[in-house]
Amino acid sequence: MKIVVIGATGTIGRRVVEKLQSQHEVVSVGSSSGDYQVDITSVESIKKMYEDISNIDAVISATGGAAFTALPELSVEENQIAINSKLLGQINLVLIGQHYLNNNGSFTLTSGIMMDDPIRLGSSAAMANGGITGFVTSAAIELNNGLRINNVSPNVVEEALDKYGEFFKGFTAVPVDKVADAYVKSVEGAQTGQTYRIYN
Ligand SMILES: NC(=O)c1ccc[n+]([C@@H]2O[C@H](COP(=O)([O-])OP(=O)(O)OC[C@H]3O[C@@H](n4cnc5c(N)ncnc54)[C@H](OP(=O)(O)O)[C@@H]3O)[C@@H](O)[C@H]2O)c1
Repeated sequence: MKIVVIGATGTIGRRVVEKLQSQHEVVSVGSSSGDYQVDITSVESIKKMYEDISNIDAVISATGGAAFTALPELSVEENQIAINSKLLGQINLVLIGQHYLNNNGSFTLTSGIMMDDPIRLGSSAAMANGGITGFVTSAAIELNNGLRINNVSPNVVEEALDKYGEFFKGFTAVPVDKVADAYVKSVEGAQTGQTYRIYN
């Protein structure tokens, strides 16, 4: 399969690429790194990616930003970061990409544990995570041409504890390897409309 991994140079994406690259043709994509660059917050950039990279069987999105800000201080503008990036950025990869992917292809998006197990400063990211989850459940029943769609919702990963450990006090982090397996299951399996909650 030809698999486009967006966020391929990140903590999760790197491990996903390692798992897939021996069996598949993987195109690693970042905003400023990887084989190809895209900005998921730009519709034009996403369209260009699908025009430039042909014959795609699967798209994995292991990216999407959000502001970590306490709710009383969360401004409308700051909340828009998660809307533009984690929520609409990923959804636009599907809305646009459905017209480009090969038949029987797949999309795998990323949400996160905060939608189910809230933490301080997490409202904006949780909003995007819940939106992604609802979209995936619903889009799965309407995608044409045998296209499938799933969502991976990771707990904080052990390899990111230096960055996020302070936010996730009392959470038992999971190995990134286990999270990466869920992306492999989504791409190589037959399921659709699923949210893989990798919480323990
Ligand atoms: N790490 C965790 O513990 C954890 C837990 C739960 C959920 N998640 C979610 O999993 C996803 C990946 O997390 P991560 O920690 O692996 O991320 P990360 O290490 O920060 O890496 C982010 C990746 O996304 C790319 N990227 C950034 N902005 C982009 C844009 N506008 N367009 C396209 N690509 C862009 C980066 O490429 P460049 O470096 O080239 O910009 C990089 O490859 C995020 O949605 C995150 O919320 C992570």
